[in-house]
Amino acid sequence: MEKKIALTGIKPTGIPHIGNYIGAIKPALNLSQTCEARYFIADYHALNSIKDPVQLRQLTIEVAAAWLASGLDPEKVMIYRQSQVPETHELLTILLAFTPKGLMNRAHAYKALIQKNREDEKDIDDGVNMGLFTYPMLMAADILLFDTDLVPVGNDQFQHIEMAVDVAQSFNFIYGCDAFKLPQPLATEATKIVLGLDGRKMSKSYGNTIPLFTPEKALRKLIMKIVTNSQGIEDPKDPDICSIFSLYRHFATDAMVAELRAKYHAGGMGWGHAKQELFEAMNAVLSPLRKTYDDLMDNQDYIISTLKNGSSNARELASRKISYLRTVVGLD
Ligand code: TRP
Repeated sequence: MEKKIALTGIKPTGIPHIGNYIGAIKPALNLSQTCEARYFIADYHALNSIKDPVQLRQLTIEVAAAWLASGLDPEKVMIYRQSQVPETHELLTILLAFTPKGLMNRAHAYKALIQKNREDEKDIDDGVNMGLFTYPMLMAADILLFDTDLVPVGNDQFQHIEMAVDVAQSFNFIYGCDAFKLPQPLATEATKIVLGLDGRKMSKSYGNTIPLFTPEKALRKLIMKIVTNSQGIEDPKDPDICSIFSLYRHFATDAMVAELRAKYHAGGMGWGHAKQELFEAMNAVLSPLRKTYDDLMDNQDYIISTLKNGSSNARELASRKISYLRTVVGLD
């Protein structure tokens, strides 16, 4: 059987943190073992929020380095920059001709923004740029351009994929052909259970993250800052409501997890001890990755040329698809 095509976009809007690693990077890399994977830096999507060229360039490199250091093999996975595949925009323009404005009005991100404006008694379109408004269709173009079967993403992106399917279906119906494959979202489950330093979901917007490649000392310091309750050393503790334990599970072996679980239940273990165990398990996994990351960042030419190579391969596929679509609609 032919391999399924998996594709996802990585928005370079922040330095990757542990939540990204557990929730997005690891599951996507696992998926690439069984699928033909195409993972790209969604730099045009980032442009909606990042208006500083130095920062955008820097984040693009850092995010690519983080995926490479985490084990992405560019020989097996196509890794590219969205902005180096201009066919995306050609497809976007085609798709917009099949996109009801009402569909975009229903997009969560847009709706949340105008709702906030209403509450603040501002003009409802205040701060809404057209890039944000048509964001779901740029994403649809990313996906449909590459005959994607599976899109590994967090739940917050499901609506966008449904919209891509909607528009792809109208297009296929109008031209009476299967020009577009209909993609399926694939939940990257773990995101929900990665808790941050304050016990809420780990998220850049809460400022409670642990950066993925923070140096060893800083990592230990951050882990020691994880907020815990006031239970004393002797008290038995519940691992299933504990941020320390929830992180530990992702870095320790099953046997280690079972052992720490038993220590929680037995009592006699203080939070400092649990934190030290977490630090050791995390550091054991992350330190070789951190080393690779630092080496990559010292040799950015490699990152840049890897992205160039990937982008030129992606472009070849994209231009074939666009020529076909031009024929379908009569723009050839
Ligand atoms: N919108 C996605 C996010 O915010 C990033 C993205 C852009 C994407 N294009 C995509 C994800 C295509 C999957 C497929 O995370």
